[in-house]
Amino acid sequence: MTKLKKIDAAIRDFYQKKTPPVSSDLIIAILYSVDSGGKRIRPLIFLDLLEGFGLELTPSHFDVAASLEMIHTGSLIHDDLPAMDNDDYRRGRLTNHKKFDEATAILAGDSLFLDPFALVAQTELSAEIRVQLIHALSHASGTFGMVGGQMLDMKGEGLELDLSQLAKIHENKTGKLLTFPFVAAGIVAQQEDRVMENLQEAGRLIGLAFQVRDDILDVTADFESLGKTPGKDVVAGKSTYPALLGLEKSYAILEESLNKAEAIFKDLAEYQGFKQDNIMKIIERLRFHA
Ligand code: IPE
Ligand code: IPE
Ligand code: MG
Ligand code: MG
Ligand code: MG
Repeated sequence: MTKLKKIDAAIRDFYQKKTPPVSSDLIIAILYSVDSGGKRIRPLIFLDLLEGFGLELTPSHFDVAASLEMIHTGSLIHDDLPAMDNDDYRRGRLTNHKKFDEATAILAGDSLFLDPFALVAQTELSAEIRVQLIHALSHASGTFGMVGGQMLDMKGEGLELDLSQLAKIHENKTGKLLTFPFVAAGIVAQQEDRVMENLQEAGRLIGLAFQVRDDILDVTADFESLGKTPGKDVVAGKSTYPALLGLEKSYAILEESLNKAEAIFKDLAEYQGFKQDNIMKIIERLRFHA
């Protein structure tokens, strides 16, 4: 089985192995959004980094990867709600609240935010590693991460923000959940403080690059390639990199962030014997000329 299939199987197992479910309607709504085929970049970064540190992947690693993808998918379901970005399409299909109803979408998102902590807690990793992962995952997802950033994003609609305010939105709404796989890989591979700092910084850079890229795509790409409606950011008065700085400068910031992240892994390869090939491929795929 490919890594992608194993991530999906770990999520499916979590929901389908507990019988009977309290509500099969809830599970159907959860799996509708999970199964609609996202890119899975966050869990793949985590797994590729573990291999880079020389670990052989185990079912527990796939459960941690799955837990991250679950929170990300929950964040998309809520992001699309009428009270938030009000989107009709996601991952090439109707959004959760369009396919089912708003209450179901809210509850499916709630499940995808809360269930991952049990999934990490029941892995076979050491108790210390599990606590560190749960702490990092909560930090990345909640008030001090994705949810906090989404609040800033909503409050910023229609306002003219400066670059530092905009960077703060991106760092939190998207950056923190993209930093988690870097930090989590360091936790599981039990890396020393210096390496942890490097991983944290690489995550910050990739997180920023990822949202700048998403902002660029909202302006430049079509529905077919995105699986979601383009052009929404301008209509909603969102603060984005292209809106504030223009497309050319946005491309430059994307490239610069990716270059800096790659430099970190080149260093780790040189000084720690880290195997950089897979993570470099993921980073390269975030470039537009790739
Ligand atoms: C979209 O994330 C939302 C952002 C945080 C920019 P992805 O581009 O990773 O979405 P999927 O998971 O592939 O659908
Ligand atoms: C999403 O940002 C951030 C999340 C926490 C989901 P966007 O609102 O730009 O994501 P898309 O463009 O809807 O995927
Ligand atoms: Mg949004
Ligand atoms: Mg959105
Ligand atoms: Mg977007």
